[in-house]
Amino acid sequence: MKKNPARNVHLKKGPSKLLEEINSSIETDHRLYREDIQGSIAHTKMLANKKIISKNEGNAIVKGLNKILKKIETGKVSFKKELEDIHMNIESLLFKEIGITAGKLHTARSRNDQVVTDFKLWIKNNSKSLDKNIQQLQKNLINVSKKHLNTVLPGYTHLQIAQPISLAHHCLAYVEMFGRDRTRLNDCVNRLNENPLGSAALAGTSFPIDRNLTSKLLGFKKPTVNALDSVSDRDFAVEFIFVLSLLSLHLSRMAEEIIFWANSQFNFIDLPDDLATGSSIMPQKKNPDGAELVRGQSSLIIGNLSSLLIILKGLPLAYSKDLQEDKKLVFKSYDTVILSLKVMNELWLKIKFNSKNMLEAVNKSNATASDLADWIVQELDLSFREAYLLTGKIIAYANNNNKKLKDLSLTELKTFNRNISNSAKKVLSSVESIKNKTSFGGTSPQSVKKTIQYAIKKYL
Ligand code: ARG
Repeated sequence: MKKNPARNVHLKKGPSKLLEEINSSIETDHRLYREDIQGSIAHTKMLANKKIISKNEGNAIVKGLNKILKKIETGKVSFKKELEDIHMNIESLLFKEIGITAGKLHTARSRNDQVVTDFKLWIKNNSKSLDKNIQQLQKNLINVSKKHLNTVLPGYTHLQIAQPISLAHHCLAYVEMFGRDRTRLNDCVNRLNENPLGSAALAGTSFPIDRNLTSKLLGFKKPTVNALDSVSDRDFAVEFIFVLSLLSLHLSRMAEEIIFWANSQFNFIDLPDDLATGSSIMPQKKNPDGAELVRGQSSLIIGNLSSLLIILKGLPLAYSKDLQEDKKLVFKSYDTVILSLKVMNELWLKIKFNSKNMLEAVNKSNATASDLADWIVQELDLSFREAYLLTGKIIAYANNNNKKLKDLSLTELKTFNRNISNSAKKVLSSVESIKNKTSFGGTSPQSVKKTIQYAIKKYL
C-alpha cells in the first residue's frame, strides 16, 4: 500500500501547505512514540484476545510495532510532517513493516482516545524522574542542614532581619515545601491513573472490547467511566502543570534568596564559579545567572498553566484540535522544571557559606529583642505586652545612644527595671536565642535534629 491509508478520500483536495504548517504536531508529539507503541500493543493484544482480529494478525502487528520501536530508538526513522502526528506516523510505518494487516490496528479506537492514553502514560512515566530530581534536592538540603545546626543566619520578615535562625532551619523549610510538591505530584498521578483507551472517538464502540484488559496491560488502575468525558478531559494535564508551577515557584523563591545571599552587601555565600558568569564590560563581576534563570523561567511555567486553562475554558465536548496544544505546554514546562532542579541541585552541592558574615549581620541588628521580652515574661512575671513595651523602650534608648541591645551594660538595663539580672544579657546572644527555640518545629539544634530525622524518614 503506497498511499497513506488514512487519507481522506472524501475531500477533493489534500491539506494545503499552510494547513499542514498549523496542523502538524509531530515536532512536539514525537516524544510520545514509546507510549503510543505501548498503547497500540496493549490494544492489539486485547483485540486478538477478544477475537476481534485473529491471533496471527495480532502477532504480526505486535511484532511490527516492536520493530518500529527499535528503529526509532536507534535513530533509523525520520518522522514525516505531512503525516501530521505521531499516531499517523507510526501507523504508516506499520504499513511499511507488515503491509495490509496494519489496517486492523485502528479497529475500535480513535486518535481521540489514543492521544489521551499516550499523554497520560507519558506523564506517569516522566513523573518518576521528576520525583527523583525533587528528592535529590531534598537530600542535598538535608546534607547542608546536618552540617549547619549551629550556623547562625538572619531570619527575615519583610526582608528585615527578624530573629536569628540556623542555616539548617532555613534549608529544612524548603525540604517541607518540596515534600508537599512530591505529594501533589503523587496525587495528580493517582487521579489520572484511569485508562481512556476504548472510549474511541467519543461514543464508545460497537466492538466487544475489554477495557479492563487494556487497563491491566498498560498499568492503569481501571478504565475511565464515560467515553465522552475521557476524550475531552485534560484536567490531568492542568493539574500536572499546576504541580510544576508551584514547584517552580518554590525554586524561584529559593533562587531569589541565593541571589541576594551572593550579593556583595550580604556576602553570605560564595557561588561556584561554574554556575556564575562574568560581565562583558565590568571585569570584577560575578553574576548569579543560574539562579536568576531558575527564577525567570518559572514565569514560563506559570504562563503555560494559564494558557492551558484558557484553551480549555471555551471548549465544548468532546475533542477539538485546540487540545493538540496541550502537549507543547506540558513538555516545555516539564523540561524547564527538570533543568531548574538540576541547576539548583548543583548549586546546593557547591555553594560555600560565609558563616562569619551571617553571624555579623545578626549581631549588627537587634534580632534578639524578642528574646529579651520573653526573658522578662519568664523571669519578672510581667505579661507579654508589658514586656514588649519595656523592651521597646530599651531599644529606643539603645538607638538614641547608637548602641546595640546586646552591648548595653547591666547597669543601663537596670534603669528600666531594677530586677533585670545578668541572665537577661545571656539571652541577647544569637547563639543562645537559637538554642532557646526548643518548641516543636523551632530552630534550636535539638528541634532541628529531630526535624532532620523526620525528614530523612519521610522523604529519602
Ligand atoms: N495530534 C492530535 C492531538 O494531539 C491527535 C488527536 C487527533 N484527533 C482528531 N480528531 N483529529 O490532539
